[in-house]
This record gives sequence, structure tokens and C-alpha cells, in this order.
Amino acid sequence: MFAESWQDSQFWYSDQTATILAEQLLEGITSDSRIAVVSAPSAYVQLRNLLVSLCSLRGGKRLIVVQNDKERYPVRPKLTLFEIDERFEVFKDDFVMYDFKNPLKFDDPGTLKGAFDRIICDPPFLSEDCQSKVRWLARQWQAPQAGSEGSTKLILCTGERMESLAHKLYGKAGLQTTTFLPEHTKGLSNEFRCYANFECDGWKWTANA
Ligand SMILES: C[S@@+](CC[C@H](N)C(=O)[O-])C[C@H]1O[C@@H](n2cnc3c(N)ncnc32)[C@H](O)[C@@H]1O
Repeated sequence: MFAESWQDSQFWYSDQTATILAEQLLEGITSDSRIAVVSAPSAYVQLRNLLVSLCSLRGGKRLIVVQNDKERYPVRPKLTLFEIDERFEVFKDDFVMYDFKNPLKFDDPGTLKGAFDRIICDPPFLSEDCQSKVRWLARQWQAPQAGSEGSTKLILCTGERMESLAHKLYGKAGLQTTTFLPEHTKGLSNEFRCYANFECDGWKWTANA
């Protein structure tokens, strides 16, 4: 990963946290799955690592691990990283320049609307303005579902003090606080939480724990 820029509010997840998040996003994927990673580049990088192609590492010492991952994830979903940091342009077509303050400034919003059945967001700021703007756009990206918003898998990683706002913004989608406590490589001074609209191997909802 690139060095963190504090100016851009960058605090990378620990490897273990990025892996747990990526694994939950990949659970049950099909070749039609599309995963939106919003301002969470280390989760994106870990998704790529888990999906890495056998060919690219043939002869490499991780061959056995890669074969296991390949068996585990026989299909490759489309990944899209929405990020403001241009360094991530190295990921070419997977990268979409995204500034939550100007959410409509995409090259081709038509292909993104309603396209994603899995979304993870880690908004850069613990403010109502930022959280609401990220939520507004995540709602545009969610795959349309008959009757309910709840069928797109949603993960929100953000501060503990955003809990009531997160429940309000994502309530209709079934989002709740989970038992999973994301960790960061350099620690964080504020309490951090993972919210999601599904339970899985990685977490339960705190209300059910
Ligand atoms: C709190 S960090 C989350 C990173 C995550 N913990 C990870 O390890 O991938 C917030 C992210 O938002 C991005 N960001 C900063 N300003 C932004 C903006 N105006 N619009 C969209 N994303 C922004 C940063 O580059 C950073 O990747």
C-alpha cells in the first residue's frame, strides 16, 4: 500500500481487518457480482489479493495458497474502487475518481447506477455532511431489488459516534452495528465500528450477540 496521507484522512486497516472485510464481500459471489469499494483502498487491495490469478503467480512460491484461493473463488467479480487519491489510478479500469463533495462528477455515471450488489464504504470524515453524501451515492449504486433495499450487501466502517446517524441513513437497508471491531495499522484515537446489513462468519449484529 501507498503511504498514508493524513491530509486525506487516510488510515489503513491492518492486514487482518482488510482480509476479514474482503472475505465477507466475496462470500457467495457469482460472475455477475459487482463490488463497490468506496474510500476503502486497502479493502480493495485485499480483494485483489484474494482473487489473484493463478497464471500471474505460476512458478511463484505462493502457488499452493493461490490454488486454494482459486478454488474458493472460482469466479472473478467486477471490482470498482471509488477514491479521491490519484495514486490508485494504477488500478486502471477498476478506479473511479470520487470526491464525496462532488458526487455527480463521474465520466459515465450511467454504468454505475444500480450496478452493485456489494458495497463497502469508509467515509473520510466523521461528519453528518460527509456520511450523508456518501450514503446518498451508495444508494444510487445499490442494485435495484424488488420490494426491499436489503438485498445488496452493505458494509459501513466508521466511528462509533456515527452509530445513530448510520442507523438512520441505512436503516431501510437493514444496517445494524456488528461485533466486528476494525483495526488500523497505526491505531486510531477514536472508537471505530463496522456496521452491516448482514451477519456472517466475520461478525454478528451486536443486538444478537
Ligand atoms: C478513513 S480513510 C478509510 C481508508 C480505509 N481504512 C482503508 O484502509 O482502506 C478515508 C478514505 O477516504 C479518502 N478520501 C479523502 N477525502 C475524500 C473525498 N473528498 N472524497 C472521497 N474520498 C476521500 C481517503 O483517500 C481515504 O482512502
